[in-house]
Order: sequence, then structure tokens, then C-alpha cells
Amino acid sequence: MTTSSAPGKVYLFGEHAVVYGEPAVPCAVDRRARVTVEQRDDSRIRVEADDLSLDGFTVTYGENPDDADVNVPGDLVAAATGYVDGAVAQARDAAGVPDAGFSVTIESAIPLGAGLGSSAAVAVAGIDAATRALGVELSCGELADRAYRVEHDVQEGQASRADTFCSTMGGAVRVEGDACERLPEPPDLPFVIGYDGGTGDTGELVAGVRALRERYGFAADTVESIGDLVREGERALREGDVARLGELMDYNHGLLSALGVSARSLDAMVWAARDAGATGVKLTGAGGGGCVVALDETDATETALEYTPGCESAFRAELDAEGVRRE
Ligand code: MEV
Repeated sequence: MTTSSAPGKVYLFGEHAVVYGEPAVPCAVDRRARVTVEQRDDSRIRVEADDLSLDGFTVTYGENPDDADVNVPGDLVAAATGYVDGAVAQARDAAGVPDAGFSVTIESAIPLGAGLGSSAAVAVAGIDAATRALGVELSCGELADRAYRVEHDVQEGQASRADTFCSTMGGAVRVEGDACERLPEPPDLPFVIGYDGGTGDTGELVAGVRALRERYGFAADTVESIGDLVREGERALREGDVARLGELMDYNHGLLSALGVSARSLDAMVWAARDAGATGVKLTGAGGGGCVVALDETDATETALEYTPGCESAFRAELDAEGVRRE
């Protein structure tokens, strides 16, 4: 058995705009997806998962997903198989063993599809564990690249390198097009996360922004404004100016709302955090539902979120300096 884990992430700034070549700064957080693989005698893939949003499911499939043997409704099969399938395909390709079969177990503390990078973490940890099971150890650069290709395929060509690079490398990173770098250790960032218990469909949300951007000049300008804001945010990060970081996160949320990717539940959590005196707060990830990320060194935001209708859970998160971990 081979096990790897990889962290989830929050976006300080720049989601969506990063898809169009603007910079983004995601930060890895201390919630991980752990993937264990065991090679099978046949070429089939069996996936077992037990995570916060998909309460224990099992699916076994081979060449034809229609023949899948599952214990949950069909739409969850797609969620289960898309990223794992992609990760296994990348591992088979990297190791030159095209018909390797695996039993895959996923344990994840990252809610699925909630903007915390669960799919990137599963792709990174899955490729790493499966290639190692086939006797090959990938460099972090190749791992991040292969995980990006998985997201790119599953999201029908509409993905940036941000989530997968961040999950592979850990810490705070900067992504602009194909240029990905790890940033120096940032100041202490007192993250508080609010989760509405829901999900957003990343592919659909990205497609919505693309359509809006093609239809209206203001939407294209908004994407560019997010890029300007990220560059300003990077300066604040370098100077350790957490108050300015917070202010810029607030503006970033406003710009994401203008692009139509917020939701009533996310806005309710944003306003609750603002009223509680958070240094800054915004939705994180694709939006549509899922999580907001706030900065607050006091307990006020976490407490306010706990009492906000529509907020299912609120918790603190720490920056995770470690990316993929071989366990
Ligand atoms: C999703 O976590 C982040 C998006 O920017 C899409 C991407 O970068 O692939 C919305």
C-alpha cells in the first residue's frame, strides 16, 4: 500500500481572473486529502471514499464507466471517478504501465467542491501515490504539471495551474499563466473559514465568467481589475501589512460578486464576518456556494459565523508550509 497526502487551499486573491492570465495568490491550509492505493491483479479501479461531504461511498469500474458497480446515486459517481480516473491515467502514463489497476481509498478533511481545493488535493495525492506504487517517484514540478492536466481535462479546458501547484508545493504561491512560484514565508495569517455546506460547479462557474467577459466590456475590465488588485496584494504580503491585505480581500469579494460567482449564503457569511470586525473576508475558490475565508486574530468572526443562518460550520485554518507528503 502506498499513501500520499496533499493540502487544500484558500485564495487570498485572484481566483477566476487567473484563468485569463492574471496573477493569483492561493495559500495551502492544514486540511488534507489522503489517498492510499494498492495495485490490483486486473486493470480495474476501485474507489472508496469517506469524506465530509460524500459520506462513505464505494465504486468499482473498468474500461466502461457504465459498468460501474456503485453503492451511491449516479451523480456522485462522476464526482468520485473524474479526478481519480485522471490521476490514475497520469500515473499509468508516467510509469509506462497503461493497464495498471488500483484499489484507491480517499480520506479527506476538505469538503468536496467547496472552494478549498479538494479536487486538486485528490489529484496531487492520487498521482503521487499511484506512481510510487508503480515504482516511479515524480519531481514536484512534474507532479504539479500532471495534476494540472487532470483538472484541465475534468474542467473541460478551463483550469489554471493555481490549485494544483499550491497543493503540490504548500505555503503561499503565486501563479500567472504558466509561471508558478512559491512565495517567501508570509506574515502570520489568522484564517477563519465559513462553510455553507454546499458546493459550486467549478466548470459551470468558470464558463459563466467566460461568457460574461465575452459579452460585456465591464466584465473583461473587472477581470483586469482583479489582476491589479492581486499585484497590490502581493506588495502588502511582502510588507507584512495584514490590514491592507484584509482591505484588498474585501474589494476582491466585491469584484467576484460583480462577475456573478457569489451566492446569498456566501454574502451572508461575508457580511457576518464584516459586522464582527474581520480584517477582511471574501469567497474562496470558484464560488456559487461553499466557503468564505476571513482574516481575524480574535474569536469574533468564528463566533459570528457559527450563528449565521446558512453557515454550516466555521473553523480556523493555519497556513500549511508542506505540500505533497509521502506517508
Ligand atoms: C477554482 O478553485 C479556482 C478557479 O480560478 C478555477 C481555476 O483556477 O482553475 C475558479
